[in-house]
Amino acid sequence: EKSGFQHFMLKEIHEQPQALQNLMRGRVDGGKAPIKLGGLSHCEKDLLAVKRIVVIACGTSWHAGLVGEYMLEELARIPVEVEYASEFRYRNPIIEKDTLVMAISQSGETADTLAAMREAKNKGAKVLAICNVVGSSIAREADAGIYLHIGPEIGVASTKAFTAQVAAFYLFALHILLLRHKTDPKVPEMITAINSIPGKIQKILDREEEIREMADAYKDKNHALYLGRGFNYPVALEGALKLKEISYIHAQGYPAAEMKHGPIALIDENMPVIVIATKDATYGKILNNIEEVKSRKGRVIAIATEGDEQIQGKADHVVYIPDAPAVLTPLLSVIPLQLLAYHMAVMRGCNVDKPRNLAKSVTVE
Ligand code: M6R
Repeated sequence: EKSGFQHFMLKEIHEQPQALQNLMRGRVDGGKAPIKLGGLSHCEKDLLAVKRIVVIACGTSWHAGLVGEYMLEELARIPVEVEYASEFRYRNPIIEKDTLVMAISQSGETADTLAAMREAKNKGAKVLAICNVVGSSIAREADAGIYLHIGPEIGVASTKAFTAQVAAFYLFALHILLLRHKTDPKVPEMITAINSIPGKIQKILDREEEIREMADAYKDKNHALYLGRGFNYPVALEGALKLKEISYIHAQGYPAAEMKHGPIALIDENMPVIVIATKDATYGKILNNIEEVKSRKGRVIAIATEGDEQIQGKADHVVYIPDAPAVLTPLLSVIPLQLLAYHMAVMRGCNVDKPRNLAKSVTVE
């Protein structure tokens, strides 16, 4: 069932173009509005009234929630907070009449997320779930939901669920935008943009060999730092989580500008720094961060936008990803990070599909 791939994780990384197509099928067909999200059709009135959104999730799903926060704020102009499910429940959270709680979970069985969701419901919140596993506890108990429709994810390290959750947030943000404004001149373009993402992911997957060679150069390191800004800050966190959970290399993700507030002290020739440096509003600032790392002898792997030659002379390695609107770049920038973690872990002889001490769904609190 691994379809010729050595591991489920690798198979699932490669399934991402198809998975996103499955997620979008019937929902943004023909590039036309409205966005059809069947699981929300009975609560459009509630969605119109929402004034604040609280996202609850754990691990990779929490990272997808952070991207969702940026998307919902940017596209739908609704204030969003993202909470670790485990923290949310013990904080006596503030839920008002117009607060929507969104529970994000691939498995739909994560105990912390389920408990947080029940707490939210007890406080009178409406809960919308984004789940992959159909009929899972979280999906069943939610008031409304969006299923990912991407097939089972077996590898403990979540990959295709992350990109699908991010894409689901994007569709949800467009859906809210259209509910509120009926039409919006930007929407057709935004739909075209997401429709072109699967093909762009495939282009990155076709560069796997390049990434494998890079993994070979870094596989014996003991630490790594991941930096990104804006939409790519959560991707830095996700890249670091992928590396640590399957290769057991200590890795940390940071918003790039935070480096100077502490982590810069760690940089020397043994510290690889993976920088997401795509061409967007903060590109110049990110180039400065790269220079700061280089001047302290750190090694830099840059994830950059195709056609960016300037970065070649600055970073030790450059992985190019196709251009896309900033809001959608996480769907692309995460792909080389998944492949890098995978190949480093395989080269270190780790069991990537079943890393030590971890289970696919964490059903204990
Ligand atoms: O099934 P869920 O999305 O609720 O799982 C949440 C986390 O346990 C999960 O994302 C975990 O962090 C993964 N192992 C990350 O790759």
